[in-house]
Amino acid sequence: MNIGVYPGTFDPITHGHTDIITRSLRVFDKVIVAVAPNPGKSPLFDVAERVEMVKLATKDLARVEVETFEGLLVHFVRQRGARAVIRGLRAISDFEHEFQMALINRKLDQTVESVFFMPREEYSYLTSSIIKEVAGLGGTVKDFVHPEVAKRLRQRLRRHTP
Ligand code: COA
Repeated sequence: MNIGVYPGTFDPITHGHTDIITRSLRVFDKVIVAVAPNPGKSPLFDVAERVEMVKLATKDLARVEVETFEGLLVHFVRQRGARAVIRGLRAISDFEHEFQMALINRKLDQTVESVFFMPREEYSYLTSSIIKEVAGLGGTVKDFVHPEVAKRLRQRLRRHTP
């Protein structure tokens, strides 16, 4: 089976991420969304909440599994019998960082390939941080995230506002 792993922090998952998952399902038999705890990014949602939101946002997509992983990505990819790391390329500015990650991952494990998908143009400027900023300032994010994610963002950020 041709398995791809789509790693990320997903704090929270956006329509840009689900667009990448949908596209990668055209190429892979199964896509494992691998949610990294990434404490260095001080996530707004804990890893269990992020996994839950990814599951909600992908519930209508067959052949998608959602897991969390610790440690090196290439180890996880191997353990799952996957062939490739899936990443999204939104703009030229993503390229340098993605190039570095792909080469490091290749150095760590020659058998793991990195493949890149381009999201729909209207999602090319999205990041999880920008969505948190908009939601935190009372803006609407319904066009960018699953309705349940939008609700959780409102609840969480309301609690955070003094
Ligand atoms: N639509 C919307 N947003 C997108 C997107 C898309 N298609 N693609 C990426 N993004 C966003 C992400 O949400 C994130 O936004 P944020 O910074 O506001 O949170 C940003 O673009 C990209 O962040 P980046 O740090 O590149 O990736 P990540 O946080 O999604 O995940 C890991 C990074 C988990 C893949 C990486 O840290 C990793 O592999 N960790 C494991 C340890 C390891 O193996 N290290 C060695 C290899 S690097």
